[in-house]
Amino acid sequence: MAKKAPTASKRNKPVATRKRKPKVADVVVPEGFVWTKKDLLGLDELSAEEITYLLDTAESFSEVSTRSIKKVPALRGQVVGLLFFENSTRTRMSFELAAARLSADPIIFTSSGSSVSKGETTLDTVKNIEAMGVDIFVMRHGQSGAPHMVARKTSASIINAGDGPHEHPTQALLDIYTIREKLGSIAGKKVAIVGDIAHSRVARSNIIGLQKLGAEVVVVGPPTLIPNAIAQMGCSISHSLDEVLPELDAINMLRIQFERFGGGLFPSIREYHKLYGMNNARLAQCKDDVLIMHPGPMNRGVEITSAVADGPNSTILRQVTNGLAIRMAVLYSVFQAQGLLREQS
Ligand code: CP
Repeated sequence: MAKKAPTASKRNKPVATRKRKPKVADVVVPEGFVWTKKDLLGLDELSAEEITYLLDTAESFSEVSTRSIKKVPALRGQVVGLLFFENSTRTRMSFELAAARLSADPIIFTSSGSSVSKGETTLDTVKNIEAMGVDIFVMRHGQSGAPHMVARKTSASIINAGDGPHEHPTQALLDIYTIREKLGSIAGKKVAIVGDIAHSRVARSNIIGLQKLGAEVVVVGPPTLIPNAIAQMGCSISHSLDEVLPELDAINMLRIQFERFGGGLFPSIREYHKLYGMNNARLAQCKDDVLIMHPGPMNRGVEITSAVADGPNSTILRQVTNGLAIRMAVLYSVFQAQGLLREQS
C-alpha cells in the first residue's frame, strides 16, 4: 500500500545531517598513509583507502572556504592547466576555483577557438602546454581513455575531469562525500542511480566508488538505457523506480544525454518522466531523510521536477559546494605525488 505523503511542514525542513552508528564499518585510512599516484584517472584504479583518503583530505580543505581569506599557500607558484575538449560549467569552474584557493595559477584551454580546428592532436596540444612549464593538467575529453593515453605519454599529472561515457572520478567523489556528510557513513547505505546509465560516466564512477566503500547500489531505468555489462559491475538492476523507492538512502537522478545518442531509446520524454521522473508523489514513497542528488546539468521536468530539485531533500547545490573541497584535495594530492617523484629521480 502506498505510504501517506508527509505533511508539508515535515517535508519543508531541510534534510538534517544523520549521525548514526554505521551497521557496517566504514573504511579507515591507515596511519602514515601517503598518496603516491601522479594521476587521477578513475575510481576503478583506486583502493577503498585511497578514496577515503581523498574524502578525508577534502573534509579538511572544506574549512578553507569558510574563512574570510579563502586561500592557502599549498600550491603557490604552480600552474594548473585546465584542458576542456568538451563543454563544462561546474567541473571547469570548480577546478579553476580550487586551483586559485590553493594559490596555484589556473590556465584554461577550450577546444573551441583553439588549434584543434587546424588538426592538432590531443597529445600535441598537451605537450605544447606542458612545454610552457605546466606540471598538472585537468582534462575533459569526449573520447573514453583520452586522459589515460596522455598520462602514459607525459610526466605531468593528469586528472580526469570526465572522459566520454567512461569515468568522472571527481564527480563521484563529491557525490560520495555528500552522502557521507549527510548520512554519516557510506558502508551499508543503499543508493539508486536512476536514468541514462548507458551514456553516463557519473554512473560508472559512482557504482565503482560506492561499492568499494561498502554501499549497495541499484541502477534503475528502462532496459534500453542500462547496458548488460552493468550487471557485471556488481550492482543490482531494476526497471521499476516505484518498487525500490522505500529502501533507498540516496537517489542520484541522471540527465538523459540526448547529445550522445540523439533519441529513439524510449517512446517520449513524457513517458520517461511518468516512469522514471522524480516528483513529489515519488518522494512521498521514500524515507523522510532520503537524499535526492543530481550531478547537473538538470533537465527540469524530465528526470526531476523543480519542486523536488529545489526542495528540502535535494542536495544538488551542496554537491556543487562539496566539489570545490574534493578538487582541492585531488590537486593537492597529485601535486604531493609529483614532489615525491621528483625527490626520487
Ligand atoms: N556534473 C558535471 O560534470 O557538470 P559539468 O558538465 O557542467 O562540468
